[in-house]
Amino acid sequence: PITPSASAPHVVITAGPTREALDPVRYLSNHSSGKMGYALAAEAAAQGARVTLISGPVNLPTPQGVERLNVETAVQMHTAALELAPQAALFIGCAAVADYRAANAAEHKLKKTDDQDTLTLTLVKNPDIIADVAALPDGQRPFVVGFAAETQDIERYAQDKLARKGLDMIVANDVSQQGLGFGSDDNAALLLWRTSDGSDRLVAPPQPKTQLAALIVRHALTHLSLTSSG
Ligand code: C5P
Repeated sequence: PITPSASAPHVVITAGPTREALDPVRYLSNHSSGKMGYALAAEAAAQGARVTLISGPVNLPTPQGVERLNVETAVQMHTAALELAPQAALFIGCAAVADYRAANAAEHKLKKTDDQDTLTLTLVKNPDIIADVAALPDGQRPFVVGFAAETQDIERYAQDKLARKGLDMIVANDVSQQGLGFGSDDNAALLLWRTSDGSDRLVAPPQPKTQLAALIVRHALTHLSLTSSG
């Protein structure tokens, strides 16, 4: 195993879904497998970084040499991310964070009743973790890489997300393509990053997530070393 040196960059990665309780036995979540985030963590560790993986509930082993912090909810992931990010050189937000959570999770199991055919849940917005990391003040702000899962107009939506969330780089993928993205072992992506005079791009064709992870980490670490004063 590779032991990171004291001067190794600290990389913080969020991965997997979040789970938002509705009552003690039910929750809102999504189909994120965590594979892409775990592949990024394994790759960053293999490239010599010190890696902390903030993980939602997934069925994956912790990659070798990676420190893993388990969380369930978006609010827990937000707390962990904002605690770790100010000391990190690179932050990669790969988690599929639930946009909303129950306004008031029920203390006891919700019961169905014979006279009610509908049930209305009130949801409130979760914090945007990566946007809050990207908004950290200079000196505490890591290089920030986000993901965008889109089904149409990939480049336009990704550019918009890059600007709106204040990211340095975004990895956009088309989740409507069969056999790619969610739950699959393969992915294709468009990498967009900011330059002094606009933005630049790289098209990564369909390939195993492990291979794509290597490309993303290499890119991020290169841009990080170009932008940091050392
Ligand atoms: O807005 P959208 O969910 O499409 O943005 C995706 C990117 O933002 C991913 O990098 C994801 O990890 C991050 N995100 C976040 N916190 C949220 C929502 C998304 O960090 N509440």
